[in-house]
Parts: sequence; structure tokens; C-alpha cells
Amino acid sequence: MCGIVGYIGNKNCVPILINGLKRLEYRGYDSAGIGIIENGNSSIIKNKGKVSALEERIHNMNLHAGLGIGHTRWATHGIPNEINAHPHSNSNNTLFLIHNGIIENYQTIKTGLKKLGYHFTSETDSEVLVHLIDSFLVKGYSLCKAVQLALNEVEGTYGIAVIYREEPDKIVVARKGSPLVVGLGENENFIASDVSAILAHTKQVVYLDDGELAVVSKDNFTVKTISDKEIEKEVHEISMSLEEIDKGGFPHFMLKEIMEQPESVRNSMRGRLLIDEGTSKLGGLTEVVDRLVNSKRILISACGTSWHAGLVGEYMLEHIARIPTEVEYASEFRYRNPIIDKDDTVFLISQSGETADTLAALREAKNRGALVLGICNVVGSTIARESTAGVYIHAGPEIGVASTKAFTSQLVVLSLITLLIARKKSLSAPEGREIVKELQALPDKISEILKLNDKIEELANEFKDANNFLYLGRGYNFPVALEGALKLKEISYIHAEGYPAAEMKHGPIALIDENMPVVFIAPKDSTYDKIISNIEEVRARGGKIIAIADDGDGEIDRIVDHVIKIPRTIEMLSPILNSIPLQLLAYHIAVKKGLNVDQPRNLAKSVTVE
Ligand code: AGP
Repeated sequence: MCGIVGYIGNKNCVPILINGLKRLEYRGYDSAGIGIIENGNSSIIKNKGKVSALEERIHNMNLHAGLGIGHTRWATHGIPNEINAHPHSNSNNTLFLIHNGIIENYQTIKTGLKKLGYHFTSETDSEVLVHLIDSFLVKGYSLCKAVQLALNEVEGTYGIAVIYREEPDKIVVARKGSPLVVGLGENENFIASDVSAILAHTKQVVYLDDGELAVVSKDNFTVKTISDKEIEKEVHEISMSLEEIDKGGFPHFMLKEIMEQPESVRNSMRGRLLIDEGTSKLGGLTEVVDRLVNSKRILISACGTSWHAGLVGEYMLEHIARIPTEVEYASEFRYRNPIIDKDDTVFLISQSGETADTLAALREAKNRGALVLGICNVVGSTIARESTAGVYIHAGPEIGVASTKAFTSQLVVLSLITLLIARKKSLSAPEGREIVKELQALPDKISEILKLNDKIEELANEFKDANNFLYLGRGYNFPVALEGALKLKEISYIHAEGYPAAEMKHGPIALIDENMPVVFIAPKDSTYDKIISNIEEVRARGGKIIAIADDGDGEIDRIVDHVIKIPRTIEMLSPILNSIPLQLLAYHIAVKKGLNVDQPRNLAKSVTVE
């Protein structure tokens, strides 16, 4: 969602804030702004649109300050415009605030503040916070105390940073439900919603937890609870490098991340395969492995692409590890009064590790005594920290809003977990070794698929003007159909639906005519004959068929319009390979339509609101 960055120190904060905001733009990008304080002067500059527009605007302003905060917005309340952009300020422009999250009781607070004479300029929920803090400052409280008192009245989620002209030696930050880190430097300190914003300056960070507040000066920081209890925090060293979060010569992060998959998949497996034993070793699960293996049931909760990975996980865990498994959208799970007990294991899958619904599902499952395990990409993220144990997918930073390499790495990690459980139950060593061998072969097979990039680009040219797409798959590849459709709709804005292929005849078949491209995921697996029948059904109605099929499948060519042939693997791993041509198809269609692939409209990388 929104991105937050702040600086206090001896340098000019303006370029630091702008560069930090550019790194954060993938989180939200409808407007941006900075607020700075220097020598008793305070100013806010904000703009509708991208950070580059803000940068252009301040280019000739010759701004200089040692204290400042910046924000990129993803609108929740009020349209994207300059007034609704952050920072928000009090009426005499001495107090600036940036916010990521949603203040649920903002109308009640606003009504109370209006009675006190406060005047509101924006339509946002965030603006109430700045006036609420001001209402305590005018009573003589310090900035820190005023923030604490204000937050006591607030319901909802927030990551906030506040600066005040009368106390220019500090930034006060606080979090509940939205991520915040403090970055430590020499005679300078930073705050951000995401380490990527400050990685150019420091690798030493302190993660705030929910209900905590930090007072950050240029050479010190203190952390306490909102209710004023001092807390000792651990300093973490970030291992990620700056190069890892750059585009590395690719036109878009999405393409870079698709092309990185041989390496990201390899990294997800590195040091985790026990070749002779035909199993996996997952350090993060050592303490809980017996409880996991003896679970009566596994639940997987996630959102979006991570939910699709969970659906593939369900097939793996039931088919190979023989544990009853259910998958549920985190947003439904959290409000459903789910039946969970201490014999259940709940996996939370999240690339960002910050998705609000997934985090709420985690807390619900934990409350009810289940074993709660995280499968996350972002190291140190809230879901990773709040899980009892877990496995990092190690895909590396994913910046493009459309998830690609995180999906394939999530599938790799789910297959490692499946292997671990299955080998402790009924899977034989030779069967385990077969899976290990196929896992090891994945990076080379992915490299082969990526060589089809040009061919897929040509296909994109032919289909870029379609208004609708249908994606069909069966068994393990039904979730791949859902993921292919999601990729296309989120970046190309073409309406696309994914279905289990057999379901087509129960409704979607009515849509099929010569204008409807239908993508079939048709590997030669246990469902092949059935899917060929479904292809024939579409062909009989004039639909344009694109098939993803195995190398060496000589039959399929005669019944489809286009076929992308890819290397074969075992059924349980085939979603990893089959999803890659679909990522490339969505990417090229969006590029050919001239769309912003990395920052599609209305979307945010990390969805930290409900
Ligand atoms: C995927 O391309 C999406 N942009 C989105 O569906 C995403 O997967 C979802 O918001 C979950 O995010 P998470 O994995 O960070 O929890």
C-alpha cells in the first residue's frame, strides 16, 4: 500500500526522500509528497501522480533540510489528488504526518475535532490523525506524548511518521498493522515502511512491532509501547543488496523477475535437498516437524497469487503426503469463525509477509491453538515474525506488482514441505529421490522455457486486442489456470477467467465463439485425455485455442491453433513450469497495449488494508 520514508541527520534529506520514494513506488503510486523542516521553516510539497512528477516539481526549488518525511499514496479514502496526498499538516503548518493504513473511526474523531474548531481540507481518514495529535500539543504535551494520547483514541491500522517544527530533533513513528522499520546510520537515522527505501544508506535496522512507537533522533532511538512501557529492540543486519532491487538492464521489473526464475527457484532449494535420503531439510521447521507431520489436517490461508500457490499445495499435500488439506482466502477465513484446534497446522503464504488479511488469519489461527507456519519471501516481515515457525522462499526482492518468481518459489517450498512430511509417513526413498531429481532439474527446464520468449511475444501480438480470455486446466494445473488469468487481468486489464476445464460445460462454454481465446494447460499427465476432450469441445464452437503442452506431444498440434511446448516434469511440479509461459504471455500483451506493467492501475504490491 502506501510507502513511508523519513530522514534525520546532517545531510540534505530531499534527495534521500525522493530516492527512497522511488524505491517504494511499487507499494502505491497515485500521488506522492514530502514534508521538511529546517531552521524553523517547514514546508510540504506534494503532487498527484508519480514520484518523478514530484521530483520534477522540486527540481529548481533548491530545498535543503536535515529533517523530512515522504510518502507515496495508494488511495483508500478520497480520490488521488494533491490535497489528499500526504504529508498532512496542522493548520499552522508546523506538524506533518504521513500514514499507511486505515483509521476506521475517523468520522467520529473528525466530528469531535470539528467541534473544537479544527478545519479539514482533505477527504482522507489520515488527516484526522494530524489534527488529533495537534489537539494534544496545544494542551502542552510533548510530541511523543501527544502521539501516544492520539493513538489511544484510534481504531484501525497505521504506520505513521510525524515531525514537528517545535521539536525538530526527532521523528516519531508508530505502528499497528502496517510495517515500519528504523534504519540506523552514523549521525543519521532513517525510518521506512520497507527496507528497500533505505538500503542505499544502511543495512542495520530495527523492526517495530504492533503497538510500538519509536522516537528517532539523528544519533539515537528509543522504542516504547503506545502505553509508554520502554522496550529493548534487537538490531538486524539486512543481507539484501542494492543491485538485487534494481532492474538490471531489463525494461521492467516484471520481465527481470520472470527471467530470474532459474536462479530464484534454485535459491529456494539451496541446501534443502537430501539427495540420498530422497527428502528435504527445512531448518525453519526443525522444532515443529513432529507436530506438523502428525497434524490431523492442514489449512492454507493466503490471498491472490499466494492463494493460488496454496491451491497447488493442497493437491501436493493430499496426493503425496496424504494429509487432509483445505485452502481458504484469508479474507474469508478470518471472519468465518473457522473450526481449528491444536491438532491442525495452518500455513500462511505471503510474498510480502505484510498482507493484512493473511496476518489477521494468522492471529486467528494462533489464538485457537493451531500450529502456525509462515511461507514468506520478505525476511523479517510481520507474518514471518509472528508465525511459530516457517520457511522463507528466498526468491529475492519482488518489485513488480504482478507476482511471478515468488509464485514459482512458493510452489518449490510447498513441494519441499510435502516431501518432508511424505517421507516421514508413507513415501518410499526411491519415490522421494525421484521428486528430488525432478526438483534439481527445474532450473534448467525453466531456462529452456524462457528461450520461448520471442515466440510468446508473437502470440501476444496476435491476441493483444482480445476483450476476454478463458484459462482452463485440470488437477494440479487448475490453479495454474486461475493464476494465468489473474496475471493477464491485473496488468493488461483484459477480462480473463480461470476455470477447472471440466466446469466449462456448466456455464462458461456459453461464452465461446471465434472471438474468445482459450488457453489450455495440457501436460501429458493423468488428466491429459480428459483435457483433450475439453479442447475438442471448444474447437467445435470456434474458440481460438492456445495450449501449453509437453515437448514431444505430437497429438495436440492438430487440434489447437497455437501450442507452446515446454519440458516435461512430474505431475506435482508441472505447475512450476506451466505458469512461466503464462507470465510471459500476460507481460507481452500488457507491453504491447502500452500499459505500465510494473505498476498497474489501482493495484499495490503489499495490501496492508482489509
Ligand atoms: C499477484 O500478482 C498480486 N498482485 C496479488 O494477488 C498478491 O499475490 C496478493 O495481494 C497477496 O500478496 P502477498 O503474497 O504479499 O500476501
